[in-house]
Order: sequence, then structure tokens, then C-alpha cells
Amino acid sequence: MSLRDRKVIVTGGPTREWIDPVRYISNASSGKMGAALADAAHERSAETVFIHGPVDGSIIAGRPYRTVAVESTEDLLDAVMGELRGGAVLIMAAAPADYRPAERSGLKIKKKSDELRIDLVKNPDILKTVASRKAADPSLEGIFVVGFAAETHDVEAYALTKLKEKDLDMICLNDVAKEGAGFSTDTNIVVVFTRGGGRLDFPLMTKKELAAGILDKIEDELGTRNQ
Ligand code: CTP
Repeated sequence: MSLRDRKVIVTGGPTREWIDPVRYISNASSGKMGAALADAAHERSAETVFIHGPVDGSIIAGRPYRTVAVESTEDLLDAVMGELRGGAVLIMAAAPADYRPAERSGLKIKKKSDELRIDLVKNPDILKTVASRKAADPSLEGIFVVGFAAETHDVEAYALTKLKEKDLDMICLNDVAKEGAGFSTDTNIVVVFTRGGGRLDFPLMTKKELAAGILDKIEDELGTRNQ
């Protein structure tokens, strides 16, 4: 089933959690996979929005669809919730920071003792929030939710657990320990698992090729859902 009449929301890149005015916690996500997915979605869908954390300007420059810049995981959650509507496809390729400093210092933390401890608190899980909102809000009927799992060990078990716990329609497993897969590369190796127990292995390929393959799979799944 074509994505032509569906809004596609793609997230990508890291988030940033400030410790003080000059330091933050983040991760190595480049936003390349998200941008490739948004590019591919734009070719098929009437409405694509790419919500991204702090990424290199080249990732979003000249993109022919709407881009929304966010900084923290809480900002990303608000932006995703603001864009969601019934029947939308949400592809969460972003790597949100799971924790943020319990307190953000307004002043630069000065170097004093030999050890420094920063208390962190858990950020909201965006996909779990989407799952509970979807269950409670009939206006979100028909949304199709795709997650990513970046893993280094026990990769399939973790991906399948996330598929279930985050109530996803599909999960794209990314074994970041493999050569050619992962954050800053232009290539990736992904295995897709679906809600219905399906599995699709993509060998090493460019993120652009992979994005097209993932969107083909989403269209297939939407087709079987409507039969
Ligand atoms: N994700 C999310 N909200 C978060 C963290 C992650 O929605 N606070 C989404 C990611 O965008 C991805 C999926 O959940 O689609 C899995 O992210 P990942 O970082 O692999 O897993 P976590 O749930 O953060 O678990 P862990 O870090 O323990 O592997």
C-alpha cells in the first residue's frame, strides 16, 4: 500500500542534554540514516517532516521537505507528539539521550576536586509514550510505528524485546559492532523484524538504498494490514 496519502514523520540524529552553559551529554548519531529515510519518504508521500537533533548542516541543507530542529529528548518528545496524527507513519531513527542531568548549572562548573559526580535522571521514552497515547486516543488510530535498535551484543534478543515493549509495528536492528554498520558511516547493515513475526535481512548497503528498502517494507506491511 502506497504512502501517498500518509504523513510520514522521521526522526534522526542525537539529542543534547546540557550540564552547564558549555558542556552537554550526547551520543555519536550523525542523523544520516534519518535523513536518508526522510529523503526516501518525500519521494513517496505527500507530507514528510524530519525532526532532528543537533546534526551537521549538510544533513538538512536544501531538503525539499519540512525540517524541525530540536535539542533535548524532552523537546523531541514534544515535537513528535505535535506532529502525530491518525494514519501517520512514525520512523524513529533518532538516538535520544536516555538520561539528562538532574540539574543544569546556570554557571560553568569550575574544576575543583579530583572527582566530579553528576546525577542523571531518566528521560521519557518517546516510543513508549507514543504507544500509551495511541492506546488512549482514538484520533491516533491507524498510526504505523517503526523503531530502530542500535545494539552491540545479544542483538536480536534486544531488538525483539524492544519491538514488543515499545508496541512497534516494525523494528530495524542495527548491529553497530559490525564493520560498515552504525553511526557515522554512509552504509549500514539492518535486519527488520515485524509485529507479525516477519524477518527481512538487508546486507551491507548504502543508507540511501537501505532507506528505500525499509520504506518498501513499510508499504508491504501497510498493505497486509488493510487486507
Ligand atoms: N527511543 C525513544 N525514546 C528514548 C530512547 C530511545 O523513543 N528515550 C527510541 C529510539 O529512537 C529507537 C528505539 O527507541 O527507535 C530504540 O532505541 P535504543 O537507543 O536502541 O534503545 P533504548 O530504548 O534507549 O534502550 P537501551 O539504550 O537500553 O538499548
